[in-house]
Amino acid sequence: MQQGINNNLTIREASKHELQEISEMTQKAYMNPENNTGIITNAGKLSELVENFQQKKIKILVALLDQKIIGAIRYNFPETDSLYFSKLAVKKEYRNQGIGTQIVRRIELIAKEKKCKKILLDCMFEKGLVPYYENLGYKIDKIKKHQDHHDVDMSKNL
Ligand SMILES: CC(C)(COP(=O)(O)OP(=O)(O)OC[C@H]1O[C@@H](n2cnc3c(N)ncnc32)[C@H](O)[C@@H]1OP(=O)(O)O)[C@@H](O)C(=O)NCCC(=O)NCCS
Repeated sequence: MQQGINNNLTIREASKHELQEISEMTQKAYMNPENNTGIITNAGKLSELVENFQQKKIKILVALLDQKIIGAIRYNFPETDSLYFSKLAVKKEYRNQGIGTQIVRRIELIAKEKKCKKILLDCMFEKGLVPYYENLGYKIDKIKKHQDHHDVDMSKNL
C-alpha cells in the first residue's frame, strides 16, 4: 500500500453535479473485467442514478485524490437496521492501494452511526471478488444461479 495516496484521500458524500462523472467512472470500472470471465456487467443508466439520487433512494460516497474522483460506492437502507451497498468502483490506475477497502470501512462507520445491525451486498461470483469481501469480514448468505453467472448475497453483522 502506498501510504502517500491514502494520506491524501478524501471520502465524502457525493453531490448532484458529480453524478455524471461517477456514472462514467463506475461504468468504465465495470466494463473492464479483471478476470477474463467474458461477462460484461452493467453499472446502470445515468438517468436511473439521477432519479434515485434525487428521490433520496440511494446515497453515494466518493473518494477523491487532489479533488479528482477516483472511487465511488452507492448505498441505501433497505430496513432501518440494515445498510446495503453496491457499485463499489475504484479507477483502474488507483487499484490495489487499499482505496476500495477504505471506502468499505467508511460505509461500515456510517452503518454503525445509523445503528444498523447488518451490512448487505451482492456480487457476481465470476468477478472473483468473493474472497475480497470475505477478507473484509463478509460471509456468503446465498448463491443464486443464473444462465451465465452466479449472484452471491453476502453480509456482515455489526
Ligand atoms: C473491487 C475494487 C473496487 C477493489 O478496489 P481496490 O482499491 O483495488 O481494493 P483494495 O486495494 O482495497 O484491495 C485490497 C485487497 O484486495 C485484493 N483485490 C483487489 N481486487 C481484487 C479482485 N478483483 N479479486 C480478488 N482480490 C482483489 C487486493 O489484491 C488486495 O489484497 P492485499 O491487501 O492482500 O494486497 C476494484 O478492483 C474495482 O473497481 N473493480 C472493478 C469494479 C468491480 O468489480 N466492483 C465490485 C463489484 S461487486
